Amino acid sequence: MSSDWIVDALQQVLQREGSEALHRQLYHQLRDWIRQGRLSGGSTLPASRQLARKLRLGRNTVLAAYDQLQAEGYLESRHGSGTYVSDVFTGRDAPSPAPGARLPGLSQRGQQLSHHSNLPQGVLGAFAPGIPALDAFPQQQWQRLLSRHNKQPCLDWLGYCHDGGLPALREVLCDYLRQSRSVLCRPEQIVITQGAQQALELCARLLADPGDTVWLEEPGYAGAQAAMTAAGLDVVPVPVDAEGLNPALAPPSRSPRLIYVTPSHQYPSGVVMTLGRRLELLKLAEAHRSWIVEDDYDSEFRYHSQPLASLQGLANGGAVIYLGTFSKVMYPGLRLGYLVLPEALIDPFRASYARLYREGHYAIQAALADFIAEGHFARHIRRMRELYQIRQTLLRETLHQRLGEQLPLSPGEAGMHLVASLPDTVNEQQLSTVAAREGLWLRPLARHFWGPATRRGLVLGYAGVPEAELCRAARRMAELLEQEMQRQGR
Ligand SMILES: Cc1ncc(COP(=O)(O)O)c(C=O)c1O
Repeated sequence: MSSDWIVDALQQVLQREGSEALHRQLYHQLRDWIRQGRLSGGSTLPASRQLARKLRLGRNTVLAAYDQLQAEGYLESRHGSGTYVSDVFTGRDAPSPAPGARLPGLSQRGQQLSHHSNLPQGVLGAFAPGIPALDAFPQQQWQRLLSRHNKQPCLDWLGYCHDGGLPALREVLCDYLRQSRSVLCRPEQIVITQGAQQALELCARLLADPGDTVWLEEPGYAGAQAAMTAAGLDVVPVPVDAEGLNPALAPPSRSPRLIYVTPSHQYPSGVVMTLGRRLELLKLAEAHRSWIVEDDYDSEFRYHSQPLASLQGLANGGAVIYLGTFSKVMYPGLRLGYLVLPEALIDPFRASYARLYREGHYAIQAALADFIAEGHFARHIRRMRELYQIRQTLLRETLHQRLGEQLPLSPGEAGMHLVASLPDTVNEQQLSTVAAREGLWLRPLARHFWGPATRRGLVLGYAGVPEAELCRAARRMAELLEQEMQRQGR
């Protein structure tokens, strides 16, 4: 068949002033015609010199398109007899999924994970929990350190590393954890991760097998539930009382392989685990041969006393894995967290981390090591502690002025959020939906229960909300709550 039509058709579609290079246009057009069957297997293409002349293109432009199509298997060149369309598509339909075509779909685990996601849509508004005061972060010092290390990265950081994170960061972090949290550790026991979430995922995958039981606090942290679910573990909720997770209330099921706790400041209730309960938990874990995962995510922000000593320190080398994050003390987008491991886990965790995720971002880790060593970190934490205390007080007072005793709030000895208890008559989901339309993120406490919620309430993040906005948002929230209570009372 004559190939004249190819030249005519190409004349019409090639855009000489277009943003796409001409050889790419030529490649795409010929590829589409081959896939659609318009150019069938075995048909001959014009010789490159001839096509270039007729289209008034450079010959290299045509050759570049032909070479690419040949490398991808669409064309074949037979010595002495020209360029042919290969016959891979002859008798076969080109893959062209129609919009809305039935795709294979998610795994059951994927469905479970995405269904339970409580990520708010759109921009985060006032009261979004877990967000620090991003506007008060010392950007200047941080950017200076970042550019120092980005400009002159050590060559070793550019390859594959297997150290468990930058040694300089592990060293300053180790000093900090020993002093401020009574964590028992050497720098070698630390593995730097991409946030606490990745640390949790690693614990779930390396310390338990699919089907094993994990105890999670209820109400509890949805990120931990997601990590455990993703690893195929059987999540058993254990109620939290005034002393923390209460093992006596655990269902008499199989022994837990993992126990996840936030003893310094239970998430989200704010309860501090008592010493008696800590000792009980350590004993129980020993009896069941369980690992305890201690998540110490925000205890830098304690307002009336020093940060509390860790469970890991109390366990004195026992089966406790301590994990922490820089998301609250720096900013969440940094994606840096850490694990402090018992000696026996150091090598397996380092090796598995390298196999599953690969280490990286060493220049950022170096900047963070300097940020800590030069005192900016401690200064920032001190300033944020004062600021968050002011913001918490403001939130409390504003809500109290409007609602008095109708809205009991959690003690707020630490952390970046409060829990407001709601009467059973209030539909917290309805309230949250209405508030979201006005940019207020009132997260229902029910999102922190793994089964039916036994308490109603709202989780109110205050740390990241500037004071003027906080007052306005708290007043508006009080109005919405009053309206909801009146609606229910009718
Ligand atoms: C209980 C708890 N653990 C850990 C984290 C932090 O996780 P990441 O370091 O992945 O940001 C959060 C964040 O909200 C949290 O609430």
